[in-house]
Amino acid sequence: MDQTAEKKLVGEAAAAYVEDGMIVGLGTGSTVYFTILKLAERVQKEKLTIQAVSTSKRTTELAEANGIKIYDLNDVPKVDLTIDGCDEFDPQLSGIKGGGGALLFEKIVATASDKNIWVADSSKAVEQLGRFPLPVEVLPFGAQHLFRLFEKEGLKPVFRTNPDGSPYMTDSGNWIIDLHLGRIDDPETLSSWLNGQPGVIENGLFLNIADCVILANGENVKTLKRDV
Ligand code: 5RP
Repeated sequence: MDQTAEKKLVGEAAAAYVEDGMIVGLGTGSTVYFTILKLAERVQKEKLTIQAVSTSKRTTELAEANGIKIYDLNDVPKVDLTIDGCDEFDPQLSGIKGGGGALLFEKIVATASDKNIWVADSSKAVEQLGRFPLPVEVLPFGAQHLFRLFEKEGLKPVFRTNPDGSPYMTDSGNWIIDLHLGRIDDPETLSSWLNGQPGVIENGLFLNIADCVILANGENVKTLKRDV
């Protein structure tokens, strides 16, 4: 089974967790794409009444094009359940997100959610975080200085760029510096250090946030739950 088929399998499976009346957070990416389409189908067929909040312009456009109204996060009291993808996750269900550039809104929505489900194809499971470059969203003002600091600290930074070489810009107008770490031995310390640097808006380490991961392994689907 190829990766897209695995994404479809788990993406669609996650839509079953949405119940009538819920306020639902919709993540961003090619796996959650299938969740959104399946959810739109359920809303229409089962006449579900849900309120959805979005984590990116892309997701808002996809959801609304398929008949799911998106509410402003400020206008809902809380989020019952958020379904999102991840770039990698470890056995404790901590992960790296932001490969699609939506880490800031994804983290805000996730932390406002009672429950977080991640959907993952088999390539996303790792023993130790860090193989996937860690995205750090930074304010463009003075970003070169942060970049040099990251270099000095041996964090192997690379500015994320568009195909034409211009800086990649997030939905909030910030830039992303990807850290090519290879392995992260102490994610908590790294996350705190990064977020303590002036100009860093947020980093892509999502620690103790996912309650469960719906993981594809070929045609099999496994649901992994975080020990609390
Ligand atoms: C976007 C993300 C995505 O959830 C992550 O990149 C996974 O994407 P995909 O489902 O396309 O593999 O964090 O910022």
